[in-house]
Order: sequence, then structure tokens, then C-alpha cells
Amino acid sequence: MKIDGISYRSVWLDADGWSVRIFDQTKLPWLVEQIRLTRWEEAAHAIRSMQVRGAPLIGAVAAYGVALAMRAAPETLDAVLEALNETRPTAINLRWALDRQRARLHNLPLEARAEAAYAEAQHIADDDAETCRRIGENGLPLLQEIAARKGRVNVLTHCNAGWLATVDWGTALAPIYMAHDAGLDVHVWVDETRPRNQGAALTAFELGAHGVKHTVIADNAGGHYMQHGQVDIVIVGTDRVTRTGDVANKIGTYLKALAAHDNGVPFWVALPHSTLDMRVRDGVSEIPIEERGPAEVTEMTGRTADGRIETVRVVAAGSAAANPAFDVTPARLVTGLITERGRCAANEAALLGMYPEKG
Ligand code: MRU
Repeated sequence: MKIDGISYRSVWLDADGWSVRIFDQTKLPWLVEQIRLTRWEEAAHAIRSMQVRGAPLIGAVAAYGVALAMRAAPETLDAVLEALNETRPTAINLRWALDRQRARLHNLPLEARAEAAYAEAQHIADDDAETCRRIGENGLPLLQEIAARKGRVNVLTHCNAGWLATVDWGTALAPIYMAHDAGLDVHVWVDETRPRNQGAALTAFELGAHGVKHTVIADNAGGHYMQHGQVDIVIVGTDRVTRTGDVANKIGTYLKALAAHDNGVPFWVALPHSTLDMRVRDGVSEIPIEERGPAEVTEMTGRTADGRIETVRVVAAGSAAANPAFDVTPARLVTGLITERGRCAANEAALLGMYPEKG
């Protein structure tokens, strides 16, 4: 996707052929800064500190982290896989990418590991970009159908499931980009997504850079707009989908699904194959939910009128804060899943029909 007319992916190999480049997403939308990763520890830090975030992207960056490690010390494979896996707990794409690297590398002689690890990381990145493009194609008819009936489409999305969260295109935003490019009159309600503001900072930045009409709203406003017929469809991404179709995604997603259910608004979830966790049946009791630091709730960062980036406290001194980063939306609240293979219901039979090899 493009920034200032230049096409980028959200992770790519540097011109030197071995180091890895990412955007520092903690600086967006105020500064578009790249970071060059030269050691696996820097890749781990980038994931943990959320310089990169979004389920598919952290998998791809972890895969490149393994490649950096294999270039430096191929005998460290097991320790590096374990350390990278511990950087964030909820998105299954991280473990999926590391399992791919493990399967590819563990039987190879040490001297062959670096080349194979880079090839696998590139494959994971290319696969994600193509997978997301197909998710866009498979989600587009939903928006076309609404546009044909109403003349325009109002989509609500939560968090950032755009190209910055994947390698390219995004999941939830891919159908929106395609609808916009096809000339449909699309407008997106962007939940700000407290506490880290991925909607206000990243989704709004992406949509603006692509010229898609959008309005940032406080997280609590979505239900109101649904009651007043101003949301035609909700599309969100996900960090893990269970065998039974339960959906883990950014904290607050569940409340949007409840409001959508109450108002008869279709609630769709876009995901690549790497986000499916067929080992888990019950999302609420089995998916580990990342608990992040209280400062993300008690403080906010923004740009002052004279251009300085500052962090301020927004909570009364002395109050405790809790910060679960994800929640689980039960399958019964999900209208359907948009995958690279097509759309299906959020249940075990439909998922096994779509992905028989994962049974
Ligand atoms: O904590 P984050 O920013 O990594 O959370 C990201 C999300 O919850 C996204 O909606 C999800 O990963 C889907 S990304 C295609």
C-alpha cells in the first residue's frame, strides 16, 4: 500500500539483502520513521514494544527475527524460537510463523539454516500479502451488495486491521480498499481503540493515505450510530479464531458485536489461515489474554499544536488501572468469517469445510 505515492510493505528486506526494515508504529501518525533490524533481539523488542503490531505482521517479523539469528548463530535456534514466542501471547500467528521456521530448519545442518530461514521468512511475508489480497476480494461482494441497495456503505471497524497490521492490504480493511478502488461510495467509522488508539492513530492514517472517507469516533459511540441506522456492516480483524468460531480481537470488539447483534447489523470477521487455532475450542476460557501495563490507560500520547510529541497523564493520581489488551467475541455473535478461501459461518463444520487439512 502507499504512503505519499510510494508503495510499501510493513516489513521488508533491506537493500543490503540481510537486515530487515519496519515502520516504527509507535511514532505513527506523527512521524513516518523506519527502523532497521540487524539482530533477532531487535525483532523481539519491536514486537514486545509494539513498534510492529497486528497478528499477521508480528508473525512475519518473528520469522525474519529467526533469519537474523540464524545468520549470526545457527546453533541458537531453539532458544530464539522460544524467546520470540514469548514476546506476545494472544495472536496465534506468532506461534504459527515460528512453528513454520522450526519445521523448516531443525533438521538442517547449521551452515544451511540462514539461507533457509530467510527463504521461509520471505515466503511467509509473500503468502500473507497474497492472502490478504484474496480476503479483500472475498469481502468485496458484501460491500457491493450494500452499495447496490443503498447507494453507499457505512462500515464500522475496531482497532487496526489494515496493511500496517499485516504485510500488505490488511484483513478487515482489504475489502474496504477494494471497494474504494472500485468506485463504491464507502465511509468508515473508525473506533479510536483506547488505550493505545490503533484506530485513531493507524487506521485513520492508512485510510487517509488511501483517500478513503472516514470518521474517527470514541469507542463508545458505535452503538449509538448502529441504533440510528448509520452502520451498515461491522468488519474487524482478529488475533485468534478457535475451532468453534470464537474470535479474539482488540479489547472492545465484544461490545461492538453485542451492539451489532442487538441492532441487526452484520458483524463480519476477516482472517487469514494463520489466525486459525484449531487446538482451541472455547475462546473465553482457553485463549490467553495479554495484560499490558497500566500506563497505557493512565497516559495518552499526542502532538502539541507546536509539533512536539508529548505524553500526559489522564487519570487521577493514585488510581489503579487495569489493561486487558484483547477480548473474545463468542461465535454466536459473528455473522460470518471472511477468509482467503471465501466466506463461511463461524462454526466448526464451516471452518472444517473451508480448511479440511486443518481437521
Ligand atoms: O495489540 P495489537 O495492536 O497488536 O492488536 C491488533 C488487533 O487486535 C488487530 O485487530 C488484529 O491483530 C487483526 S490484524 C489483521
